[in-house]
Amino acid sequence: MNFLKVEIEKFTQKRPNSQELWKRSIQGIPGGISHNIRNLGLPSIGAFPVFIKSGHDAYLIDVDNFKYIDYWQGHYSMLLGHNHPGVQEVILNKLKLGWHFGTVSEDQVNLAEMLIEDNPSVEEVRFSSSGTESAMYATRLARAFTGKPLIAKAKMGWHGYADTLLYDVKAPFLGKEGPGILPEDQAGIITFEVNNETTKDLIQDNAHELAAVIIEPVLGGGGGFPVKIEFLKMLREMTEKLDILLIFDEIITGYRFSYGLFQNQLRIFPDLTTMGKIVGGGLCIGVVGGREEIMEQANPQLNNRVWTGGGTFSAHPLSMAAGLKTLEILKQSSHDYDRTNAIGTKFITELNEVFGDENLSFAVTGYKSYITIHALSKYLENPGMNEIIQFNSKKREALLQLALLNRNISGMHGIGALSFVHTTQHINQTQEAVEEITPPISKTQI
Ligand SMILES: Cc1ncc(COP(=O)(O)O)c(C=O)c1O
Repeated sequence: MNFLKVEIEKFTQKRPNSQELWKRSIQGIPGGISHNIRNLGLPSIGAFPVFIKSGHDAYLIDVDNFKYIDYWQGHYSMLLGHNHPGVQEVILNKLKLGWHFGTVSEDQVNLAEMLIEDNPSVEEVRFSSSGTESAMYATRLARAFTGKPLIAKAKMGWHGYADTLLYDVKAPFLGKEGPGILPEDQAGIITFEVNNETTKDLIQDNAHELAAVIIEPVLGGGGGFPVKIEFLKMLREMTEKLDILLIFDEIITGYRFSYGLFQNQLRIFPDLTTMGKIVGGGLCIGVVGGREEIMEQANPQLNNRVWTGGGTFSAHPLSMAAGLKTLEILKQSSHDYDRTNAIGTKFITELNEVFGDENLSFAVTGYKSYITIHALSKYLENPGMNEIIQFNSKKREALLQLALLNRNISGMHGIGALSFVHTTQHINQTQEAVEEITPPISKTQI
């Protein structure tokens, strides 16, 4: 029996409860999921995702009582690990007082002050319920501030699911990411290649119409590719010179590699920044922050204010409380940051060496604690970003996730991200599992 069949049989036989829930899910929910990647591609190879009932520290427990080392960590938002006792206590205490009033709250002020104090480019902030909303608001503020219509976004850049920026996210880059979205020219979007000289000309040529350039310093949904610092510097210089705003999407990178935004380490400061995930402590959040004169356009006392922050659940009391507590802990966590960054870097380097030495059809990208394993349709020697995207094999990636689940490891995009609760032992166990399963997956025809 081939590797795929063995793994599917092993997986399916032992997970009757997840299988039953999956059968019910696909009846009433399109594709069985409410976020498009939460099936891990498993239906494409005849399997189904596991249903999780609880999580603590580095672990998730599914409805069939399997325990997994988890690297997805709530879409990378749980940097302190699952069910952190300090954050849990704060949430429970707030919960007892009632959980949504639709009013202003002290925690909101405290969290805003902390974000402003820790990040020089952030002079004011507005909270929303999701990163998607914050990206939408950032581009709206930019268009209003500059009076110009166009937004330039990176090819492979992922800024959430709003119509506004859903262009050229996935190869083969056909513009809008699917039906139901306006073509780029009607939506005021142009897209550019990261780490590519031609982008300079594109910005120059469109300067008179360009309101903003938006980019993630590490392309996340695009595949965990760090953008070259020289490229980010070029974007800053060009935008500054040509009266274009620069927006950094730090929804993944913010507070991930050290306390504060990644831009502080890069020493490149945008005009606006979007934040989310970690700064909400694992509850719903989006933040847009930046220069006061741009952010002040959102002040409702202005006759001509820019609509920024509707949302029944914006600045939800539980999110504000969880975010605040998380940041307080992170501020004292330089040792954990250093340790997690170091084991992440070692993991990326060592696995790439193994894949290279054994001619396996895999590549690891990422930065420090943020790790993506790409399954490829064939072996490539030292593949670059464009090759990795071009030879991506979705089905092999699904088989990788399945085989990892069979070895009690839960990830996304291969692995995902390290949190402070991951130990060297977890990493060694994971590395061993990856080294065991990638040779047979490389030989599996799917
Ligand atoms: C870089 C980036 N921007 C924006 C978003 C959208 O945030 P949310 O899912 O909270 O709407 C995400 C989410 O994965 C993201 O990774």
